Amino acid sequence: MKVTRAVAGTAIAAALLLTITPQSAPAAPATTDATTDATAAAQGLRDVAKRTGVRIGTAVDMAAFNADPPYREAIAREFNSVVAENVMKWGEIERERGVLDFTAADQLVDSARANGQQVRGHTLLWHNQNPGWLTDGVASGEIDATELRQILKRHVFEVAGHFRGRIVAWDVVNEVIDDSAQLRDTIFLRLLGPEYIADMFRWAHQADPKAKLYLNDYNVEGVNAKSTAYYELVKQLKADRVPVHGFGIQGHLGVQYPFPNNVLDNVRRFEKLGLDTAFTEVDVRMPMPPDATKIQAQAYAYSALLQACLLAQRCVSFTVWGFTDKYSWVPGVFDGQGAANILDENFAPKPAYDALKTTFTLGGR
Ligand code: XIL
Repeated sequence: MKVTRAVAGTAIAAALLLTITPQSAPAAPATTDATTDATAAAQGLRDVAKRTGVRIGTAVDMAAFNADPPYREAIAREFNSVVAENVMKWGEIERERGVLDFTAADQLVDSARANGQQVRGHTLLWHNQNPGWLTDGVASGEIDATELRQILKRHVFEVAGHFRGRIVAWDVVNEVIDDSAQLRDTIFLRLLGPEYIADMFRWAHQADPKAKLYLNDYNVEGVNAKSTAYYELVKQLKADRVPVHGFGIQGHLGVQYPFPNNVLDNVRRFEKLGLDTAFTEVDVRMPMPPDATKIQAQAYAYSALLQACLLAQRCVSFTVWGFTDKYSWVPGVFDGQGAANILDENFAPKPAYDALKTTFTLGGR
């Protein structure tokens, strides 16, 4: 399916806008001795991330997970946090009205437990990948506002309730503000009014009181009109004592676009409101074919986002939206673009992988 999204991105020079000195720029070749190199090579990202307190996560494609053992092994080796790329979305769980299928999602949660990984929950509400019966029902008028509210509430209790105690953080609402910084025009806003957002958080909190509850979106990496709209929304939710705990920054970038402005300042302003933060869906795409310059720009962008996370106080995790170009969502959605991940199609590390490792190794906390 096609997702229309505005773009965000990076450029080599702009990556240096973050508070890094040239000496500590992560993609610059560090002078290490052979022993250090050998040790680093033997470790996964999760090993180098550990001392920073920031979890390193990936989205998991459950079809690949079941078909491809090297894919599965890489997840266990490299990551200490996982999120379902698709299988926790409403349209996947409740394809037929009233028939809930948690098979694939449970498989992911069980595997995470066996591998000592936390699980982020994605997502309780989105305007894409909803069940056909829901969208058709609303479109035809068969489902009115009162019923939609009941259906939504039941959905939250069923899904968050099913996983209660096993999900560290839920993306309670995904992409509810559009690129003109207005509440997104969706069936939820149209029928239920803006109050649906507070309702979602209150229901999720009742259904799983220990889970951290997040807003999540793209094009909110830097300080801009859209992230400012989120900032104001969070302030209002807090004033209304709504249980909101985190701000999720997706981080879908592209090397052909300017790197977002003031990422660290942006993260910090949400933390000052009392929220945790997380980078939740990082990938850095490029116009195909890749070349050495694009690959290097990509490494800088991954590293620059991670630096913002490490320099912030309450950035709890850095999740990539897939880790291998073998299974990326990018080519199917962004024409002529790809190579967005940190490993290539053969699971060989790209400079972005090494940049993340170096950044974790250098990074404070
Ligand atoms: C994407 C998946 O990666 C694709 O496999 C699927 O076809 C569409 O959704 N923002 C989000 C994610 O919050 O859920 C999207 O995932 C990518 C953009």
